[in-house]
Amino acid sequence: MARTALVTGGSRGIGAAISKALQNEGYTVAATYAGNDEAAAKFTEETGIKTYKWNAADYDASKEGIAKVEAELGPIDVVVANAGITRDAPFHKMTPQQWKEVVDTNLTGVFNTVHPVWPGMRERGFGRIVVISSINGQKGQFGQVNYAATKAGDLGIVKSLAQEGAAKGITANAICPGYIATDMVMAVPEKVREAIIGQIPTGRLGEPEEIARCVVFLASDDAGFVNGSTITANGGQFFV
Ligand SMILES: NC(=O)c1ccc[n+]([C@@H]2O[C@H](COP(=O)([O-])OP(=O)(O)OC[C@H]3O[C@@H](n4cnc5c(N)ncnc54)[C@H](OP(=O)(O)O)[C@@H]3O)[C@@H](O)[C@H]2O)c1
Repeated sequence: MARTALVTGGSRGIGAAISKALQNEGYTVAATYAGNDEAAAKFTEETGIKTYKWNAADYDASKEGIAKVEAELGPIDVVVANAGITRDAPFHKMTPQQWKEVVDTNLTGVFNTVHPVWPGMRERGFGRIVVISSINGQKGQFGQVNYAATKAGDLGIVKSLAQEGAAKGITANAICPGYIATDMVMAVPEKVREAIIGQIPTGRLGEPEEIARCVVFLASDDAGFVNGSTITANGGQFFV
C-alpha cells in the first residue's frame, strides 16, 4: 500500500515542490496551508493533491487536522514540517509580536506537527520526519534574530527526535536550504536579492525542486541509516 505523507505549508513554494515530488514517488500526499485558499484550490486542481487548512502554530488545530488526514488517507508515515514564516526587523526594532509569531509557527509548529503522529509511528515501527530549517539557522542573519533562533531550534528538535525514534524505526532529519526562488524570497527587494545572489558561489537562487529531491531521499527506505543529520543545500554559500 502507498505510504502517506503530510507536508505542512505544502501548497506553495518549497512545500508545493515537496508535495509533488512525493506524489511522483507514489506517496499519498496531504498538503496543509494557513489561509491562502485560492493558491490551495489551484494547487489541488493542478495536482490532485488534497489540501487541508489549519494553523501549524495551533496544537489543537494540528491534532484535529492530522486526525482528519489519517481518517481520510490512512496513517501518516512521512511528515515534512515545512510551514514557516518571516517577520524580519533589526533586533532593536523587533517587536514581541514579531518574535512570538515566528517562534509559534517555525518552532512550536514543528512540535505541533510531529507530536500527534509520533505515537502511531512508534506503534507501527516506521516513520520519517523531515524538518525544513534554513541556512540562517546555521549562520544567523541580520534582521532575523527571531527566524534564525527558530531554525537553529529546529536542528535541536531533529537531533533529539533522532535519538528517541531510532529504536522504533523512525528517523528525523533536517534540510537547510539556502536562498530558494519562492514568494518568501521574491518578496525581498530586488536590490537585496541581487546582493544575496552575489554571495552564492553557484551564482543563482536554488529551485524548490532541488530541496524536494533531498526530501524524497530522506523519506525513502534507502535513507534508514541517515538519522539526526542536516542536508545543507545552499549553492556553496555557507559551510557548516
Ligand atoms: N525560500 C527560501 O529561500 C527558504 C530558505 C531557507 C528555508 N526556507 C524555509 O522553507 C520553508 C518554506 O518556505 P517557502 O519559501 O516555500 O515559503 P512560502 O512560499 O511563503 O510558502 C509558505 C507555505 O507555508 C504555509 N504556512 C505559513 N504559515 C503557516 C501556518 N502557520 N500554518 C500552516 N501553513 C503555513 C503557507 O500557507 P498559505 O499559502 O496559506 O500562506 C504556504 O503554503 C519555510 O519553513 C522557510 O522558512 C525557505
